[in-house]
Amino acid sequence: MSQLMPTQSQGAGNFATFDLSRVPSPCFVVDEVALRQNLEILHAVSQASGAEILLALKAFSMWSLAPLVRTYLSGACASGLWEAKLAKAHYGGQITSYAPAFKASEFDEIANLSDHIVFNSPAQVARFGAQAQQAGAAIGLRINPQHSEGGVEKYDPCAAGSRLGQPLSDITKLPDLVSGLHMHSLCEQGFAPLARTVEAIEPFLQAHKQQLQWLNLGGGHLITRPDYDRDGLVQLLTRLRDTLDVQVYLELGTSVAFDAGILVGEILDVMDNDGPVAIVDISATCHMPDVLEAPYRPALLGEPASGGQSVSLGGPSCLAGDVIGAYAFDALPQAGQRLAFLDQAHYSMVKTSTFNGIALPSIAIWNSQSDALRMVKQFDYGDFESRLS
Ligand SMILES: Cc1ncc(COP(=O)(O)O)c(C=O)c1O
Repeated sequence: MSQLMPTQSQGAGNFATFDLSRVPSPCFVVDEVALRQNLEILHAVSQASGAEILLALKAFSMWSLAPLVRTYLSGACASGLWEAKLAKAHYGGQITSYAPAFKASEFDEIANLSDHIVFNSPAQVARFGAQAQQAGAAIGLRINPQHSEGGVEKYDPCAAGSRLGQPLSDITKLPDLVSGLHMHSLCEQGFAPLARTVEAIEPFLQAHKQQLQWLNLGGGHLITRPDYDRDGLVQLLTRLRDTLDVQVYLELGTSVAFDAGILVGEILDVMDNDGPVAIVDISATCHMPDVLEAPYRPALLGEPASGGQSVSLGGPSCLAGDVIGAYAFDALPQAGQRLAFLDQAHYSMVKTSTFNGIALPSIAIWNSQSDALRMVKQFDYGDFESRLS
């Protein structure tokens, strides 16, 4: 997923008090209190600005928490048929579907599930627009603002040669069926990059405002991080709504689940090769693939800020590069000891695999206020077997 680049967790938060031995290992634990706090912030932004906020399922589709999510957000955004079905089954509200290209064999079903269909190119509008219209979906076009705010090309939908969205400079006339525009070019960023991006596209928006009824500013806005300029955002969203006379949408993933979950694991063995190397039952490649893909170093719960014993942590797979990183421990860790990586609710749970026959992490919901814990999912051999044949 080009548009995500993992965030730096703000810290252990409520998880500093969580007893890691209460869950099987490995296990994602999501704090519903932290999730609710994020949702309250987003709801307040929505109320103040009139913008509708959708959950980007690609980031966080833990549907056991959908009843909580749908209390605060307007619906969900889907990247294809299966996410659109999940949105319909669990989240309700509005559904916006966007894909770099839709498949003819799936399109009717997607269009019937969706309130908004966002096409990536005028050619896709020409191919499927009439079908979308017949299904009653509003039709949008994703634009490439041609304004880069990210430093990493892999995560920049505005990078040269990008396949994501129609370059703004190539559009003279919008296809007639189009009633809205979509852009997504930020990556877990603050308000200033959004303000600069809007400044870059605003002449285009003003020039086409007669045709526009809605504007979707995508995701990548880390609104729930404490230092985000939410007042600035509300002012911008309100101004866009008023000057363009459009309904504004945001589709947020990271911001919804930011710092709301951990991945608990266990030390399996400690060996030495030029320093201590610990094998854990969390695999970078199977359970936190962004560690290798981004790459990034997830924060470890309770890691001393300075000093301590440096230990290289690696997963149980055969991949030589299944290495999570070097971490400080107060004392050399022992087999059986628990650990947890922070901020793993988004873009980890949705990306796990069973490569090497490695077990999928269980999923638990914790309430940090009441301390109640419920296991919502445990996987077994059958899940591995059923994905193969
Ligand atoms: C089209 C689109 N919308 C929304 C999002 C959600 O972004 P985030 O999770 O950074 O808010 C993404 C992420 O890749 C995306 O590609």
